[in-house]
Amino acid sequence: MATRTIREMGDPILNKVCKEVKEITPRVIELIEDMLETMYETGGVGLAAPQVGIIKRICVIDVTPPDEEPDPIILINPRIIETSGEQTGEEGCLSVPGKAGVVTRPNYVKVAAFNEEMEPYEIEGTGLLARAFCHEIEHLDGKLYVEKVEGEIHDVTREDVE
Ligand code: NI
Repeated sequence: MATRTIREMGDPILNKVCKEVKEITPRVIELIEDMLETMYETGGVGLAAPQVGIIKRICVIDVTPPDEEPDPIILINPRIIETSGEQTGEEGCLSVPGKAGVVTRPNYVKVAAFNEEMEPYEIEGTGLLARAFCHEIEHLDGKLYVEKVEGEIHDVTREDVE
């Protein structure tokens, strides 16, 4: 495993619509392992493949507090299939370092995706996890949270990163 360089806002790869994963190859497995390592190394709660320069529909998420055992979620070709409620709160992104802004998201999100064996599964979450699902899946369509910020994007001293 290795960490990969995180692309920052202004890099055109972050605005690409990513391609569906057709099969799990050793390269895909290596990419997922590297994405996990990069996410944990940077203290983020999520990372999407275009953020490391790969335009494939893959995200990794882990909203477990840092003092607990990691519990990574791997989403391949994810789709949001159900949402409800609303939450408004601070959001950040590893591709927009040192910044945060207020974004309203659904408070409950259900996702259909494939795992590393290319088996379909569904996963649901509320609160921060629901926010991470929305944020990371939007990366796969070339969208950054900054488009949705209500009011000003502001500087943060300790990044609340996704
Ligand atoms: Ni992000």
